[in-house]
Amino acid sequence: MIINKLKIKNYRNFKDAEINLNSSLNIFIGDNGQGKTNLMESIYLSSIGRTFRLNSENELINFNESKSSVEISLVKNNYNTKIELLLEKNKRKQVFINGVKLDKTSEMIGILNNVIFTPDDMKIIKGSPVERRKFINIDISQIKPKYKYLLNRYKKIVSERNVILKNYFTNSQNKDIINIWNDYLAGTGAEIIHYRNDYIEKLKKYAVDIYADISGNRENFSLEYQSNVLHDMNLDKDSIKKIFQDKINSNLKHEIQRVYTLYGPHKDDLIIRINGKECKYFGSQGQQRSAILAIKLAEIEIIREEIGEYPILLLDDVLSELDNKRKGYLMNYIRDIQAVITTTDDHDLRELAKNFNKKFFYINEGNIGNITN
Ligand SMILES: Nc1ncnc2c1ncn2[C@@H]1O[C@H](COP(=O)(O)OP(=O)(O)O)[C@@H](O)[C@H]1O
Ligand SMILES: [Mg+2]
Repeated sequence: MIINKLKIKNYRNFKDAEINLNSSLNIFIGDNGQGKTNLMESIYLSSIGRTFRLNSENELINFNESKSSVEISLVKNNYNTKIELLLEKNKRKQVFINGVKLDKTSEMIGILNNVIFTPDDMKIIKGSPVERRKFINIDISQIKPKYKYLLNRYKKIVSERNVILKNYFTNSQNKDIINIWNDYLAGTGAEIIHYRNDYIEKLKKYAVDIYADISGNRENFSLEYQSNVLHDMNLDKDSIKKIFQDKINSNLKHEIQRVYTLYGPHKDDLIIRINGKECKYFGSQGQQRSAILAIKLAEIEIIREEIGEYPILLLDDVLSELDNKRKGYLMNYIRDIQAVITTTDDHDLRELAKNFNKKFFYINEGNIGNITN
């Protein structure tokens, strides 16, 4: 997949920018605070429909304006597609695909596939299970449209069920009603577990080999999907549901005491190990960086496996975080992939990208321009 053109208007600190991208490397150079991450965010927004930052949607619009737009022209499976986003203060954003307005913005997910890699992604390695679930959820949503629906449904089931647990003894009907919610929880939860296991198996398939390459076959990388519902994940949905139901039935007493749904995929984790030791606690800084690099490159391969083309790779200020060996590995790996790279210092990059097909741009106070040498 290739993005040909990007047009942004009144987005964050940009006024009016139109850029034609190269099909390989696109390197944006700029000092801090000039708009590099804003640019990445506009592409990411056109893919997922949400920002990766914590801001509200109003803050995506330039402070002095009331409307903003992002327009992306891309080629995917030999078809031209235009994605347009219109943002208006205090209104719901509108999304148009080839001029046709979508009923729900979530329908845009999966059209522009991207993998983003920023220094913040170290949270996947070092952060709490919440970070790893978030990462897995976003990734699966990009390739499996039903998954997002299941997640929303599951979230509602857990919160409704928690209310029933809270009022278990005060309302006599709840002894029967809880069984209905147990069935919903186990049914939807089993589907989520099944999707996640499938995704993690794929991630493992690619990341293990990539990590071995990066470490010169000296270290062994492993991923394990951890659930508090069951241990053997490689079961069909119905078998998972059955085990899930047994688990809830035999632990209902605890849940009533704790007034909370204790078992299910909302408690899942992904355990990352190097040479058998958990990377989060025992990995050196170098090992942790190799681990996230292997995971990010594996994400790229999974999308290619699913859609038959490579996604767009967004590297936001991440190269300066990697040492020369890892930087070299990454650059070599992405030779055939369209990448948007931002950096404050292009010195190493010019050397590394010497033999690449590439285009350089500067970003300065929300202005973007070509650099011709
Ligand atoms: N809605 C907005 N309107 C105008 N400027 C904004 C808006 N949101 C953020 N900015 C500005 O964008 C700049 C940060 O841009 P960013 O892309 O994060 O920089 P960097 O180049 O370091 O990645 C800051 O100067 C910030 O004030
Ligand atoms: Mg930045």
